[in-house]
Amino acid sequence: MKGYGHTPVLLEETLFFLQASRPGVYLDGTFGLGGHSLEILKRNPSARIIGFDRDEASLRAAADRIKGYADRLSLYQADFRQLLELEDLIPWDEVRGALFDLGLSSFQLADPARGFSFNQEGPLDMRMDTRQKITAEKILMTYPEDRLAELFKKYGELHQAKLLARKIVSLRKLGLLKTTTDLKKLVEGTYHWVPQKNRLHPAAKVFQALRIEVNQELDGLDDFLERLARKCLPETRLVVISFHSLEDRLVKRTWQQLAFSEKGQPVVKILTKKPVRPTPEETEANTRSHSAKLRAVERI
Ligand SMILES: C[S@@+](CC[C@H](N)C(=O)[O-])C[C@H]1O[C@@H](n2cnc3c(N)ncnc32)[C@H](O)[C@@H]1O
Repeated sequence: MKGYGHTPVLLEETLFFLQASRPGVYLDGTFGLGGHSLEILKRNPSARIIGFDRDEASLRAAADRIKGYADRLSLYQADFRQLLELEDLIPWDEVRGALFDLGLSSFQLADPARGFSFNQEGPLDMRMDTRQKITAEKILMTYPEDRLAELFKKYGELHQAKLLARKIVSLRKLGLLKTTTDLKKLVEGTYHWVPQKNRLHPAAKVFQALRIEVNQELDGLDDFLERLARKCLPETRLVVISFHSLEDRLVKRTWQQLAFSEKGQPVVKILTKKPVRPTPEETEANTRSHSAKLRAVERI
């Protein structure tokens, strides 16, 4: 799988904040191709990983890379937000850290058949877990105009979201909205797109908004992080890497609430007053990292 997942984002920073050289179990809620986890296993012979990913194709693609670690690595196809319900899988008294490297992997983005990329023609799918029924196409075909506008505004932070939603509804009535390219062209027309250096393509925001809605990416994330923090033993480190401001805000607020606004004891200590960002060298070597923000806490 050369080319995919070989450059985990904020790797050294993640290992530092996890204190991943301690013996014990580390949970990886977003295993992907195992970029972070495999590095933990390589560097720390006393570490075990329990990994989760919603995406079966990712887990299959990781199979080759994880050979040789089978005795210290267990992998499950699951949404990490269900992790606390998977009681029997996790030896909580041995857990030293948990990592959530949110969003999409370059492996997922690179496959046109998944429909995540506006740069490649594919179906309007965007499901991380392909067992799920709702796809981007279903949303585009069935949501009322005002609900579409709302999701583009909320999850894409797009201006003219109402106009975009109106155009989508007109095009879908004509049966002309079938592929990622159809949607990209519609977006380019709506926003009078002219390519310019350092300007984000508006389709990036539209695709982001749809992807968040399809996978319900923000739903229950704060509640999950809070329950996880409470469940963990003192000194357990929790690290979240997010890639857009909505996610980052949610993580920031959750950590702050657990650290400061408890009536009784604070639950966690915040280890990153400001989010940790990639260095210019990392951003240059791996463009995917440019919007990454890492926030870490330690269970008190
Ligand atoms: C940014 S990638 C992780 C990359 C990984 N850290 C690496 O270095 O190879 C995010 C992964 O998390 C998965 N994912 C996103 N949200 C998830 C969730 N709620 N539960 C489980 N997996 C999720 C995606 O399918 C994707 O494979």
